Amino acid sequence: MSDPLSADSITTRASTFANTAFASWRQRVDAALQRALLDHTLPDSRLQAAMRHATLLGGKRMRPMLVYAVGDLLGADVAALDAPASAVELIHAYSLVHDDLPAMDDDALRRGQPTVHVAFDEATAVLAGDALQSLAFRQLADATLPADARIAMVRELATASGAVGMCGGQAFDIDATGRGGDISLDELQRLHALKTGALLRCAVRLGAITGHADNTASAALDRYAEALGLAFQIRDDLLDIESDSATLGKTAGKDLVQNKATFPALMGIDASRMKLAELADVMHTALTPFGDKAALLAALADQVIARQH
Ligand code: IPE
Ligand code: IPE
Ligand code: MG
Ligand code: MG
Ligand code: MG
Repeated sequence: MSDPLSADSITTRASTFANTAFASWRQRVDAALQRALLDHTLPDSRLQAAMRHATLLGGKRMRPMLVYAVGDLLGADVAALDAPASAVELIHAYSLVHDDLPAMDDDALRRGQPTVHVAFDEATAVLAGDALQSLAFRQLADATLPADARIAMVRELATASGAVGMCGGQAFDIDATGRGGDISLDELQRLHALKTGALLRCAVRLGAITGHADNTASAALDRYAEALGLAFQIRDDLLDIESDSATLGKTAGKDLVQNKATFPALMGIDASRMKLAELADVMHTALTPFGDKAALLAALADQVIARQH
């Protein structure tokens, strides 16, 4: 029998514990998404089918996991986290539908499936994205939380997804397309912080609002989230080069073809990996004040750094 106190055994126990929590949260958010899509779309419509295609066929659910893990850390009621968890995933799903459109990254494969404009048509993809966005805010409006918490969450999600968040970052990405590594490090960090970081950070903030985080906890969680957002997109940039389409469920190698502004294009693969390791340290240091209670957030940090798809 293996030594129960060996580092390997402890890691296995920790990851079994984390995987059980993640699986149960995944079930919760999937159920909330299913319900929202049934309750607020016209039955058997093409638009409903496109919205379901965009939302229910796979995805790591990283943003919902962050909402649940932060809420769990702060002792929030898990049922109260379903609305913000599903809201942030709906915005993410909409952002992917629009990101894949011919006018943007022009991708045909997403989550191992044809993209929405390929499976349906472009007009339906535009509308499905729009309607997913509206549904996200509907989820927050209907959350079982006091009105002031719901308003605070609407404000966070609106800011993170709009012109000073994800949409602003996507516009910046389009402007920088074709420039490859011809961008300053500051500019690229800002681009990544907006297009990807803003929504991941928002997921952490929604968990913090639900769990009534005090100022000290909020500041520590924000440091964690900022590093996580940048790390997530650097890993995405590396996977585009180092992985394949079957593993990713999306077309590998596109960033190079389109000469996208990415970390590997700017600083090379090795330096991008070193940057990821630095960000891992920042995340774990930010979580130190929470001690063992932050084990699940620490596990999510490790997943972001080491993910294979
Ligand atoms: C992909 O996001 C787009 C980026 C922001 C880099 P994810 O890697 O979270 O995609 P899914 O949800 O797992 O498909
Ligand atoms: C996507 O970044 C960011 C958003 C959807 C907001 P990418 O364009 O790199 O994402 P993938 O690689 O297509 O998933
Ligand atoms: Mg893109
Ligand atoms: Mg893309
Ligand atoms: Mg990418």
